[in-house]
Amino acid sequence: MQGFETYLRDHLPTTETFHPIYNDAMADMLLAGGKRFRPMLLLRIVEAYEPLLVESAYAPALAVEMFHTYSLIHDDLPAMDDAPLRRGHPTLHTTYDESTAILAGDALNTHAFLLIARSAFRPDVRIKLVEILARDGGVDGMVLGQAIDLYFENTPLSVEQVKELHRNKTARLIAASMLMGAVIVGLDRAAQEALYAFGIDLGLLFQIQDDIIDETQSEEEAGKTTGNDGDKNSFINLMGLENTIAEADALAADLLQRFEAFDLKLQTALKPLMDHYLTRHQPQ
Ligand code: IPE
Ligand code: IPE
Ligand code: MG
Ligand code: MG
Ligand code: MG
Repeated sequence: MQGFETYLRDHLPTTETFHPIYNDAMADMLLAGGKRFRPMLLLRIVEAYEPLLVESAYAPALAVEMFHTYSLIHDDLPAMDDAPLRRGHPTLHTTYDESTAILAGDALNTHAFLLIARSAFRPDVRIKLVEILARDGGVDGMVLGQAIDLYFENTPLSVEQVKELHRNKTARLIAASMLMGAVIVGLDRAAQEALYAFGIDLGLLFQIQDDIIDETQSEEEAGKTTGNDGDKNSFINLMGLENTIAEADALAADLLQRFEAFDLKLQTALKPLMDHYLTRHQPQ
């Protein structure tokens, strides 16, 4: 969806200021790329049911990407994962300094909600979108996941606790992106709940695969610092690479079955995104 990339470049958070690097710091990580998985989930759901709403949905889609990018900027900070590379580029605290990176993250977090508040949807829809992003990104979602991730470094958790950690730090934002798409097109409650539940398990698979990437890929391949999970409650540290791949295979097979029960319009729209994630670990 090339239109989304253009929209992103045209809607970077910028302001008039004599600060020499403030605008660059807010833009750098957004422009560095990334898979755009979360905004694409949202946009493809909108495209499946209400193609005419896709352009209006660029704003909440960018909000999700901005919020996610803030989480990455903070995740890489020296006090958190201390990573020098992200999206094939030096992390913000490496390019600039730590306070600049913290503040750029803060700005992207806040700006996400401004984008939704100013989007073209009905007020009740905008409030719902704000609520979802705040709920799944904040106190009881991504931030909680990151808090557990960091507090329990070098303290082994149980498999169930690690799944809970992964669901919070990663799956909640992925599920939120799907739910936001469903809310924009006005799907009924049952369909919204099914998409959200699917998104949670898809997000768990996504983070398990991310743990595999940390173990198996070079920095060049991943575009980010890898081999960095030594102190973490990652699936690799919990059960080893082979069992982690088996766990991902089983989850992918389950998700594929559930995906095939979605209505055809939705399957067609989401398939390009799912193929990459759901079939990667299929047993041959
Ligand atoms: C990385 O997310 C952090 C996790 C939640 C695993 P992505 O793998 O989506 O990173 P980008 O957006 O493509 O850079
Ligand atoms: C990060 O998980 C999840 C976020 C909320 C950003 P990781 O720490 O595993 O993500 P990477 O591997 O640095 O991308
Ligand atoms: Mg982390
Ligand atoms: Mg990290
Ligand atoms: Mg990781």
